Amino acid sequence: MTDRPIHRMYLHFQELPLSRRFLYTGTLLVLAAGYAFALLYIYTSHSGHDGNAITLSFQDIVIAYSGSDEGTRLESALHGPMSGMLPRQDIVKIVKWINDGATKADYESNVSTVIDRYCLSCHDGSNPHLSNLDGYENLKTVVDRDTGMDIFTLVRVSHIHLFGLTFIFFIMGLIFSHAFLRPVWFKCAVVIAPFIGIAVDVSSWYITKLFNPFAVFVMISGALMAACFAYMWVVSLYQIWFYKMPDYLTERDARPNRTIG
Ligand code: HEC
Repeated sequence: MTDRPIHRMYLHFQELPLSRRFLYTGTLLVLAAGYAFALLYIYTSHSGHDGNAITLSFQDIVIAYSGSDEGTRLESALHGPMSGMLPRQDIVKIVKWINDGATKADYESNVSTVIDRYCLSCHDGSNPHLSNLDGYENLKTVVDRDTGMDIFTLVRVSHIHLFGLTFIFFIMGLIFSHAFLRPVWFKCAVVIAPFIGIAVDVSSWYITKLFNPFAVFVMISGALMAACFAYMWVVSLYQIWFYKMPDYLTERDARPNRTIG
C-alpha cells in the first residue's frame, strides 16, 4: 500500500488543529448544499425542453444549446392545445405565413384578422400567464425559431462557470489533499479530473451549437465533476472525524522541517 514515501509537507486531517478541522467541515457542508442547488437548477431549467419534464436527456441538452428544429411555439400550439380554437383553413393560413418568412405585410393582409378574431379574447395581454399576441411585434415573439442559448448568454455563463467551478474545486482539492489515500496517482487524478471536466464542459457548449452529438460530452463532464465532488466530499469528511491513521503514518515525525534521508 505504501507505494511512495510520505511527503515531508504532508499532514493528515487529524494532525491539523481542531479549529481547522471545524473550518473544513463547515466549508464542506455549505459546498454540498450549494452543489445540490446547482444540480436542482440545471434539472429544472433543462429537463422540459424535449417535452418530457421528468428526465434530463441528451435531447434536452441539445435543445438548450443549439435549439430545436421542430418549428416555432406558434406552430406547436396550433397543432396542439390551440388547434380547436380556429377553423382548419385558418391554421393552414397561419402556418403558410410562418413558412413564407412571417413578414409584416403578409401578416397585415392575411393573418391579423384571424388572430384578432380567434385568439385575442384570451391572448390580448391582460393575462400575464398567456403570451400577448396582439399586433405583429408580439406575435413575432412566438414565431422566432428556437436557436438555443445565444453566444452572448454562453459567454456570460462561461465566465461564471470557469471562475465559480475553479474556486469550488480548488477549495475542495485543497481540503482533500489532507486525506490519506493510496495509490498517490489515484489521489492526484481525483484532484485534477474536475478541472479537465470544466474545460471539456464549457467548450462542449459551443461545439454542441454547431455539432449536436457533442451534448454527450456536456453530460459526461458534468457527471465526472459531480462524481469527483462527491468522492472528495465523503472521503474528506470521513477522514476528518472518523478515520484511524495507519501506524506508520502516526509514528513518523510529522513536523514539516524534518529532514528525510
Ligand atoms: C379560450 C382562451 C384561449 C384562446 C381563444 C386561445 N388561447 Fe392560446 N392559450 C390559452 C391557454 C390557457 C394557453 C396555455 C395552455 C397550455 O400551455 O397548454 C395557451 C397557450 C398558447 C400558446 C403557447 C404558450 C405560449 O404562450 O407560447 C400559443 C402560442 C397560443 N396559445 C396561441 C394561440 C393562438 C394563435 C390562438 C388563436 C388561434 C389562441 N392561442 C387562442 C388560451 C387561449
